[in-house]
Amino acid sequence: MKILVTGGAGYIGSHTIVELLQEGYDVVALDNFDNSYPSVLENIKSISGKNFDFAEVDIRNKTQLKQFISEQKDIAAVIHFAASKAVGESVALPLKYYENNVAGTVNLLEAMQENGIQQIVFSSSCTVYGEATPPVDENAAIPVAQSPYGNTKQICEEVLRDQSNATNLKVVALRYFNPIGAHESALIGELPIGVPNNLVPYITQTGIGKRATLTVHGNDYPTPDGTCIRDYIHVVDIAKAHVAAIDFLAKEKYHNPFSVFNLGTGQGNSVLEVIQAFEAVSGVKLNYQIGPRRSGDIIQIYADCQKAWDELGWKTLYDLEQSMASAWKWEQALAKK
Ligand code: NAD
Ligand code: UFG
Repeated sequence: MKILVTGGAGYIGSHTIVELLQEGYDVVALDNFDNSYPSVLENIKSISGKNFDFAEVDIRNKTQLKQFISEQKDIAAVIHFAASKAVGESVALPLKYYENNVAGTVNLLEAMQENGIQQIVFSSSCTVYGEATPPVDENAAIPVAQSPYGNTKQICEEVLRDQSNATNLKVVALRYFNPIGAHESALIGELPIGVPNNLVPYITQTGIGKRATLTVHGNDYPTPDGTCIRDYIHVVDIAKAHVAAIDFLAKEKYHNPFSVFNLGTGQGNSVLEVIQAFEAVSGVKLNYQIGPRRSGDIIQIYADCQKAWDELGWKTLYDLEQSMASAWKWEQALAKK
């Protein structure tokens, strides 16, 4: 079975290709390297010991995208990662986000329809829930999005649902909570460009000495230790869920053409707990300070994953300490380069 992976050189895409190849799928990937590097492709091949096809394609370029997909033979399903993902940038440059994430997805769906490809797994986000009462299941209300980025995920889910109602398209939308960590080989991982916004790369970069101090954004929230709570999930667990979703789509009957699943651990951890986990696995005392709240932060969110457990037959394998250990190993590997 041949799977097209868009955004295949990216953080989650690269880990997913490894899992697909290891499970015996054929893969063809595309990326425009807007937020990734070509060297990732060789590292995926080194880890898996397998080859796959790749093309530098921009999903905003409808002509190029359609030509590429029409030249492929026997694509059974698409896993669609390609998107821009920086929340702050999306506030400053909303049109970039609507063009890349929404128009890019529409282009992809058009190309799929023209070529008779009827299955897609879509990268959504727990950001669609906003500030909800955890544990959050898939029936939680979807409030007005807090950023253009979040809005693109809500809109894309609606576009996919409408297209699945109108055609034979079958959709799985996966709402990721907070993906962290890296492959155990330390050959692939997250490559944040510039100063990281996300907690875990900021922690590991501070641990290695690339950043002087981590600032904890607020310790006066109504949580047990006053810092915000998230559901941090190992990227390899996220990747394995995509393989489960592909299996699920192959089995799924047409009467349920649009399915949504949360991907988390079901466990909430505070910022201070993540720092403690890092210190425990690395043996490094982290230099951090408490700062003011970060505007727009959700106080606490973690997933109810019962639906994914029951219907995808998927469960996480890694806990927070294992995830942090893999993130640290990756940061150390990067430092040697
Ligand atoms: P990433 O930036 O590492 O990967 C995205 C890849 O898509 C990059 O390699 C980038 O170069 C490529 N890309 C972007 N625009 C493209 C275009 N127009 N044409 C072709 N390729 C393009 O991000 P990631 O963390 O791997 O995220 C993958 C998906 O998961 C995204 O849709 C993101 O919104 C979603 N998501 C990520 C997180 C997270 O915290 N990492 C959380 C929830 C959802
Ligand atoms: N944090 C700090 N200091 C930092 C960075 C983060 O204290 O230097 C805190 C944040 O305030 C927050 C927690 O760590 O309380 C997690 O922050 P992240 O930025 O790592 O993650 P978010 O949950 O805020 O957002 C992430 C992605 C979004 C995505 C969302 C849900 O950045 O794109 O997860 O998937 F929408």
